[in-house]
Amino acid sequence: MRVAPAPCRTLASIRVALRVVDLDRDMRDVVPTGTTRDSEYLFERMTRRTLDLARPGCGTRLLDVASGFGQDAIALSRRGSWAVGTEPSRRMSGFARLQSERASDRPPSWVRSWSSALPFRDGSFDGVICKGALDHFDRPLEAIAEMARVTRREGRVVLAIANFESLSCRVARGLDSFKEGWLRRSLRRGRRHYDVPSDHFTRYEIELMREQAREALEIDVVEGISMAWGLPGWSRLLGRLPAPLAQLALNGLGRMARLLPGLSDVVILAGRPRRVRKSSMNSA
Ligand SMILES: C[S@@+](CC[C@H](N)C(=O)[O-])C[C@H]1O[C@@H](n2cnc3c(N)ncnc32)[C@H](O)[C@@H]1O
Repeated sequence: MRVAPAPCRTLASIRVALRVVDLDRDMRDVVPTGTTRDSEYLFERMTRRTLDLARPGCGTRLLDVASGFGQDAIALSRRGSWAVGTEPSRRMSGFARLQSERASDRPPSWVRSWSSALPFRDGSFDGVICKGALDHFDRPLEAIAEMARVTRREGRVVLAIANFESLSCRVARGLDSFKEGWLRRSLRRGRRHYDVPSDHFTRYEIELMREQAREALEIDVVEGISMAWGLPGWSRLLGRLPAPLAQLALNGLGRMARLLPGLSDVVILAGRPRRVRKSSMNSA
């Protein structure tokens, strides 16, 4: 764990805030280790849709911000794009580099960087993706502004963000407080899926996502991915159903999620960068 000084945001202040970051971070505590049908569905759909919206293809320049183990940047380069992954964690970018050298004959470029200060010129990319990471950033607004800055005018920024006001979070939270408050049952407490993990800075729901994204983007896509992930008993039930029936249920809920993104498990927002005049940026 590293502790680095960062300037305090109050202009008049000379105080220094501490920025606590883990540069050796990996994702053992993030990615579910056992796969269930609903987890597989959620992660597969979220990834596919995020990558598709970035419009990968021959020669396009795409950036994956907070690229983690690098699987998405590798997938983009396999689809013909010139891909770059940025990631502050030494361990994760080292792993990404190793993986890509083994797995691809045109590996992405890997750059260690914070999302709030991307080391690229304005308009360098045709598209930027940031999947499952915005809630880990201590400066999400600066990060989105940076993604918009490095994207060309007609390009697209794609954000995939976990929704902590999904139908499943609301129902599970309601059930737990009913059991605890009304039935006086003491529940085995560990982190519930509706609790924000300790390494998140922001608890997102759809209105906050829109509000932050539209500061820097002209949003043209807001879509929900999957519904009911984490609902008590849901994984187990799906596991017991015959595969075609489980798939039918997942697809049906997936369609509902698309129509009702505010209740979905993950929301994808995408849009073109808003161009901010240099003078107003400087005075901000
Ligand atoms: C849950 S992982 C998601 C990784 C990857 N996008 C994926 O979908 O697998 C969150 C990532 O955000 C990175 N991260 C955390 N704070 C960051 C920051 N301020 N700037 C850039 N990346 C950051 C972490 O190192 C981690 O790789």
